[in-house]
Amino acid sequence: MLIKSATFVVSNTKISALPAPDMPEYAFIGRSNVGKSSLINMLVNQKGLAKTSQKPGKTQLINHFLINGSWYIVDLPGYGYAKVSKSSREKWEKFIRNYLTKRESLQCVFVLVDSRLEPQQIDLDFCCWLGECGIAFVIVYTKADKQSINKSKQNMAAFNKALKRWFEEVPASFLTSSESGLGKDDILTFVEEVNSN
Ligand code: GTP
Ligand code: MG
Repeated sequence: MLIKSATFVVSNTKISALPAPDMPEYAFIGRSNVGKSSLINMLVNQKGLAKTSQKPGKTQLINHFLINGSWYIVDLPGYGYAKVSKSSREKWEKFIRNYLTKRESLQCVFVLVDSRLEPQQIDLDFCCWLGECGIAFVIVYTKADKQSINKSKQNMAAFNKALKRWFEEVPASFLTSSESGLGKDDILTFVEEVNSN
């Protein structure tokens, strides 16, 4: 799929103020600093569309971006940032879980996982929760440029193995780098296929 346009629409903390659910949408989620906003920018060829930061906790709201006038990318705040207070973490959880379980136009969740790390319990727990709720998701491994392909593949295989304890069928996955553009065509082709169904 060619990206002809990508524009910021709205940031929200209220489910009631989200854009009308009249176009397919794809949400990007994962631990703080895993590279959600960078991946979105890489996919749409715009460096500053989604705000990125070296410090975790940059994205705080539900951000809608309209792509080619016909579908949405949604940038979400990260989970697992230790410096966030318990009360604001609980608030975050409620709000994101509400969004993910109630959003009727949500086609698929992209769960971002750092390809440099061995399986992290927080990511596995999140995938299990999605599975329990019946929410469709795929895994996107990020920051592949930071190490050898072999190392990434080892970590991907270990994550898949861990998921197999809960899932009969392990979801699709993509290895990506926002620096090199690795994985871009595969993700956009996946979205195109889901959009056309
Ligand atoms: P929060 O919004 O805080 O949850 O973070 P995020 O998941 O949106 O991460 P963000 O895209 O802001 O990236 C965090 C840091 O990782 C930034 O310094 C990025 O430049 C860096 N980064 C993200 N993706 C990649 C990648 O593929 N390769 C490399 N080398 N660095 C990356
Ligand atoms: Mg972000």
